[in-house]
Amino acid sequence: MTKNNSEKWTWWKHGVIYHIYPRSFQDSNGDGIGDIRGIIRRLGYLKELGIDGIWISPMYASPMIDFGYDVSDYRQIDPASGTMEDFTELLQKAHEAGIRVILDMILNHTSSMHPWFIESSSSLTNAKRNWYIWKEGVMGHPPNNWKSAVGGSAWKLDEKTGQYYLHSFFEEQPDLNWRDAELPGVFFEEMKFWLDLGVDGFRLDVINLIAKDKKFRNNPVLLGIPALQKHIYTRNRKRSVTVVTQIRELLDRYDDRVSVGEIYTNPPGDAKSAARYLAKGTNGIHLAFDFSLIFSRWNAHAYFTSIKTWYDSLPEEGWPCNVLSNHDLLRSIDRFPWRTNREEKAKVAATLLLTLKGTPFIYYGEEIGMHNTHIPKSQIRDPLGKKFWPLFNGRDSARTPMQWNREPNGGFTTGLPWLPLNKDKHSRNVRQQEGEPDSLLNLYRNLIKLRKSSQSLQHGSWLPLNNGKDGILAYFRNTGHERVLVILNFTGRQKSFTLPEHLYGKVLMSTHRTPEEYSYFQKMQISPYEATVCMVIE
Ligand code: GLC
Repeated sequence: MTKNNSEKWTWWKHGVIYHIYPRSFQDSNGDGIGDIRGIIRRLGYLKELGIDGIWISPMYASPMIDFGYDVSDYRQIDPASGTMEDFTELLQKAHEAGIRVILDMILNHTSSMHPWFIESSSSLTNAKRNWYIWKEGVMGHPPNNWKSAVGGSAWKLDEKTGQYYLHSFFEEQPDLNWRDAELPGVFFEEMKFWLDLGVDGFRLDVINLIAKDKKFRNNPVLLGIPALQKHIYTRNRKRSVTVVTQIRELLDRYDDRVSVGEIYTNPPGDAKSAARYLAKGTNGIHLAFDFSLIFSRWNAHAYFTSIKTWYDSLPEEGWPCNVLSNHDLLRSIDRFPWRTNREEKAKVAATLLLTLKGTPFIYYGEEIGMHNTHIPKSQIRDPLGKKFWPLFNGRDSARTPMQWNREPNGGFTTGLPWLPLNKDKHSRNVRQQEGEPDSLLNLYRNLIKLRKSSQSLQHGSWLPLNNGKDGILAYFRNTGHERVLVILNFTGRQKSFTLPEHLYGKVLMSTHRTPEEYSYFQKMQISPYEATVCMVIE
């Protein structure tokens, strides 16, 4: 392997990445919680799907207040996931199968049980005091008006030392102080530990939140409601971009590693903010989730607008990545509106995801169209769900166990699953869909295969033929040597489509045509919710 640099055509640009929520992927020891040995067991499935890398949500030692996003030791695997030996075996076997491994890295906060925080909170003069964000209160009140993302003040009074500490999420997740002189270097050592072990990169949790205003100014309040804030002093501070640059320097000391930042903005899908973190030359992260596809309305023009805005915002060398869903949101198939034709809409969305310019990320289960699962109150596990029920049920409904087959618990566990499986586990599962040529799973497999066989789909330019206003989104992917056309009908109506003069299409793949119908065309009728990919001939 050669040294990484931003110009190089590398795996994370042309590859497809699969996001595993480890508690729910595959259990191997019957305790009802997915684990590393379970992932090892399913590497064959992932290889057959055709993906190039996996991003695994956190598996570090954790009290599991936020299911791993509260880390108490960055160098240990949590016993619920397995052991360090299991992890090194996963890494080795994944690499043998040609699958890269990306870990989640949580820089904004640790668990309150992390030894750093225990030390930091032990006295006002502790050497690690400044590793976290401590402040005096004001007349018995928190230091300022900052709100936590999970509701309430972001400050918690520590009785022992009489100061408040900042927690942007739950109080068991104290925020680290990235303005401290020592902390960044120490934290980078934790990342180095995994890089030295051979992991291929990191997904950087809430990376745009890590630095806060130096002067601790109050956030502006919206509509006079204290809980509604414009997070200008708690998000997207310049210092976060500087840290990202340092992370890039660290990764560049290794071959071929990648960083993908979670840039959750308010309003979501603020492409310009997300793009600020991306590589200009070699000084930013490699990829950023901007959430714009996720929050787009089901409408060809709306998708066109978000895609174009995202691409136009990217710096010259910036490379997009695209995603339909993740472990914090509703399942994509249930976001498509009106509860009609959801399977067909999921196929249109899959074709979009896998034919756009940029690295596609697939959330586990999306490839079989897993639905949100209703979780009864007594079985809610997500702390957000517990806190806000019945207003908000939490995030469990999109984190239920993977549906593999018709065996008990969908083949996920022989024990009692930590979250209930969806009722449809017998009719919607991997085994079932493997046997159905027109299933969503086979569409995903075929699209990934097609993407791999086509230079233009992997790295060609994106050239829209229209703006989607008539319900069809059509675009070319072009390398100069090869031109592919993608036609997506977002409507339930038949449409006719004509190629520009002198151009002909030859169907390569279609949700509505059999291979016998893969003819040459200049003009064609597009069925409701049809997704078709063609080779263009002059
Ligand atoms: C990110 C994670 C989410 C977690 C939060 C706090 O948004 O995706 O699951 O709760 O950060 O770490």
